[in-house]
Amino acid sequence: MNERNGRKRILSGIQPTGNAHIGNYLGAIRHWVASQGEYESLFPIVDLHAITVPKDPKQLRAHIRETAGILYAAGIDPEQSTLFIQSHVSAHAELAWILNCFIPMGWMERMTQFKDKAGAARERVSVGLFDYPALMAADILIYDADLVPVGDDQRQHLEMTRDLAQRINSMFGKTLVVPEASIPPVGARIMGLDDPTSKMSKSETGQGHAIDLLDSPDEIRAKIRRAATDSSRVIEFDESRPGVNNLLVIYEAFTERTREDIEAHFDGKGYADLKRELSEVVIEGLRPLQERYREIRKEPGYLDAMLKEGADKVRPIADRTLRRVMDKVGLG
Ligand code: TYM
Repeated sequence: MNERNGRKRILSGIQPTGNAHIGNYLGAIRHWVASQGEYESLFPIVDLHAITVPKDPKQLRAHIRETAGILYAAGIDPEQSTLFIQSHVSAHAELAWILNCFIPMGWMERMTQFKDKAGAARERVSVGLFDYPALMAADILIYDADLVPVGDDQRQHLEMTRDLAQRINSMFGKTLVVPEASIPPVGARIMGLDDPTSKMSKSETGQGHAIDLLDSPDEIRAKIRRAATDSSRVIEFDESRPGVNNLLVIYEAFTERTREDIEAHFDGKGYADLKRELSEVVIEGLRPLQERYREIRKEPGYLDAMLKEGADKVRPIADRTLRRVMDKVGLG
């Protein structure tokens, strides 16, 4: 069950919220691209997760296509990877329901992402937002995924998914593959430019918060120029100075240079130099993606056809797992 033609399977999802940013790219997308030759790779665009908070229907549908376009433009190769829309494979939602019935409330109540997102509106947010991790566990477990490459913010959800798979296996005998998280050593937690103590996030709407993958060079320069720093003038990696540290981590992730090399390079230079050089590194790093994105969007129908093909390909795998689980728990 664990190996397919000698290859392990990876699965990772992204929400179609319409403004994928460099945190998504450095923490997840570029690692999906780099490993797709080595692993069987499945990438759902998780529209069912997106509706856990209110969404304009027209915009959501447009954002699903935009996200797919960005992923292909970033280098996801349809010959090697399968991209699909989560809601096109109904078994995700069906398995999520079954999993719900085996997740203790206490596990869910410990999820910090829900606490952060719900905040003071806890009584008004949807049940779906609370239940988000069960659907995420279903996304992973339904494909018997071995590895889940994600940013650091998904760590706790992955731990819960593992605990859940183990729980079901111990109740019913070997039923589900227990997946492992794969979190990159550099870029797993890119912080907001305006507030480097909080994670760069798609739901933050502040003008200078995130660098979106489709931002123009001028927008990128303006956002980095305004990024929060501090009054020290030394340019070195230091987590106690989150603003400068974050800029350096972004520089490190895009250039793949060593920390020593980067610190030596900026020795004696000022924040204005750091910001100027970083802007150019980010602009150049995103240029190929942006060019390919524009090409892809010129072909009407391409994305819809690819996404349909993707769902058709993975649906039998998902249906098989769902049937296996239903059988074990005594349904039907
Ligand atoms: P989402 O759409 O918020 O983010 C997509 C991926 O980007 C990573 N990421 C970051 N990495 C570094 N720095 C940041 N500031 C940053 N912000 C986001 C995320 O960790 C993620 O890997 N719950 C998931 C979607 C999902 C999923 C799944 C992931 C649904 N089902 C199954 C893996 C497996 C999410 O909201 O990602």
